Amino acid sequence: MNILVTGGLGFIGSHVCVELLEGDHQVVVVDNLENSKTKVIDNIKKITGRDIVFYNCDITDFFSLNRIFTSHNFDAVMHFAGYKSVSESMDFSMKYFFNNLYGTMNLCDVMRSSGVQKLIFSSSATIYGIPEKTPIDENHRLSAISVYGESKLKAEKYFEWLINSDKNWNVVSLRYFNPVGAHRSSLIGEEPSGEPNNLMPYINMVAAREIDKLKIFGNDYPTKDGTGIRDYIHVTDLASAHVLSLNLLFEDKTDNTMEVINIGTGKGYSVLDVINAFEEYNSVEVPYVFSKRREGDAAVSYADVTRANKKLDWKAEKTIKHMVIDSWQWKKKMINSNGQLKK
Ligand code: WQD
Repeated sequence: MNILVTGGLGFIGSHVCVELLEGDHQVVVVDNLENSKTKVIDNIKKITGRDIVFYNCDITDFFSLNRIFTSHNFDAVMHFAGYKSVSESMDFSMKYFFNNLYGTMNLCDVMRSSGVQKLIFSSSATIYGIPEKTPIDENHRLSAISVYGESKLKAEKYFEWLINSDKNWNVVSLRYFNPVGAHRSSLIGEEPSGEPNNLMPYINMVAAREIDKLKIFGNDYPTKDGTGIRDYIHVTDLASAHVLSLNLLFEDKTDNTMEVINIGTGKGYSVLDVINAFEEYNSVEVPYVFSKRREGDAAVSYADVTRANKKLDWKAEKTIKHMVIDSWQWKKKMINSNGQLKK
């Protein structure tokens, strides 16, 4: 199939492009390069031996996006383009709503005018807010507690109304838990521009001696070791779930609702679990210090993945060992290409 991937040079998007190409799909990428680099195009080719078509285009630009749609006959769209920093979203709400929400609506407008109405959307477990129970299933109460989360939640609501008004729309919203790791080749991975927000990039920075110690946000949570528990999922497992989701877009729809599916491992690891695994499997120390809780953090969050297992015939295969090894191999590759690994 001919698939448009928005944000296809980013962390998740690039890994999905690899899976799509390895599944013999044709891939066109639009990316505005705000949080990605064109070197990813060459690295995707090194991994797969195949080319992608790339357009430097912003999803808020109706006319440029429309020109791309008139030049290609897309079967479906996978939509990753968007800002994703929870903390930044609280300081730049207008920017986040414009880019994430208006950008999504603009994309859908162009899709509709081109007769392309099959969409896989990159959503997030953050829309569950502070979990009332775990594991979290797709019927859990929705409650965004950040502008970032609200932009994802509002986008899902928009899709529901779109489907309600036009039965030709078919949307699958994948609610990611905590994507980590990198492709086993170490040619693509997470390359946060500026200050990272998430745990694994920070652990990598401490291991690379770029920062002295990891700050663990709270060790007084009601968990086995007092640190926060999350459902970390290898980005390659996340990518394979996207390719399998394409099948759902082409099944006859029994009802006019959006399909929402949690994508996680169904297993939770604490911050100390991740640090211990990182140190054990990479033979590198990760010094840390406990600090106060981060506002808005949940104690425990991990997925009920029953629906993903059944609907996609998918389950995560990679373990925390793969996640920490692939993450560190990618970090070392990045440092060696840009400088020397500090001893
Ligand atoms: C994980 C755990 C922190 C950094 C967010 C978004 C979610 C998704 C993933 C986009 C928590 C602890 C972290 C640090 C720490 N992103 N931590 N020190 O907050 O679960 O989810 O990122 O879709 O939408 O909400 O991920 O990696 O920030 O935190 O102790 O320096 O690591 O307290 O327990 P989070 P995270």
